[in-house]
Amino acid sequence: MEPSPFRTEPVSFTRRGGRLSERQQAGWDAMADDYVIEVPRHGPSTSVDPAYVLDAPSVFGRVAPLVVEIGSGRGEAIVHAAQQHPELDFLGLEVYVPGVAQTLVTMRHEGVTNVRLAVVNAAEALTTMIPAGSVHELRIWFPDPWHKKRHNKRRLVTPQFAALAARVLEPGGVWRLATDWQDYADQMLEVLSGTADFDFAGDWSERFEGRPLTRFEGKGLRVEREIRDLRAVRRTA
Ligand SMILES: C[S@@+](CC[C@H](N)C(=O)[O-])C[C@H]1O[C@@H](n2cnc3c(N)ncnc32)[C@H](O)[C@@H]1O
Repeated sequence: MEPSPFRTEPVSFTRRGGRLSERQQAGWDAMADDYVIEVPRHGPSTSVDPAYVLDAPSVFGRVAPLVVEIGSGRGEAIVHAAQQHPELDFLGLEVYVPGVAQTLVTMRHEGVTNVRLAVVNAAEALTTMIPAGSVHELRIWFPDPWHKKRHNKRRLVTPQFAALAARVLEPGGVWRLATDWQDYADQMLEVLSGTADFDFAGDWSERFEGRPLTRFEGKGLRVEREIRDLRAVRRTA
């Protein structure tokens, strides 16, 4: 049977398309072949064929510790981090195509080559596409907060998702999160406290110095929201 083009489970995103600006289209045309991973699909356009497993050394053309950023948006944080750490490889998982195109524009402008992007639902990518124990760091900056109670079930960071994070991280690998939405921060704290897979101090951590101030964080700060950072370490089994 053909896989359905529709999902039956709620996902953590709604918009994924939209027009590309001229610059974004030019960035996409010049860069996508080399920097956007072609993911075999299994139904919806952000899905991942469960048989597909990422071969990071062949995609990056070298063996280096892998940092995965989920919801890399317009790429401000991932490009900044890649510039700061040319010795690491960075993979951005993002469903919003204009965001991916904007990331390519910035990479091209800055001459950054240690980033790859995949237009995929991160939950699926962490389930099968990314090999177990292959990720050095996992980062989620300002995931969609889904403020309304009836939408909370769409939030990405749940106990089920923590199991996926544990799956892909190497022992001692670090999971970093940040949010400006206190109710979601509390949920993250609960999720990290409730899993045996991670060492977690049970409290907010210092602002991660490797995270630049993105537009999104700026918006939260302007309305005087507290920014919460969290950090947990994958336990050695
Ligand atoms: C609120 S934005 C934050 C973007 C960026 N991290 C920042 O700090 O500016 C959340 C991003 O996560 C993406 N996203 C949400 N759910 C996702 C999923 N399941 N897989 C991949 N990306 C997702 C959205 O498309 C959006 O770009």
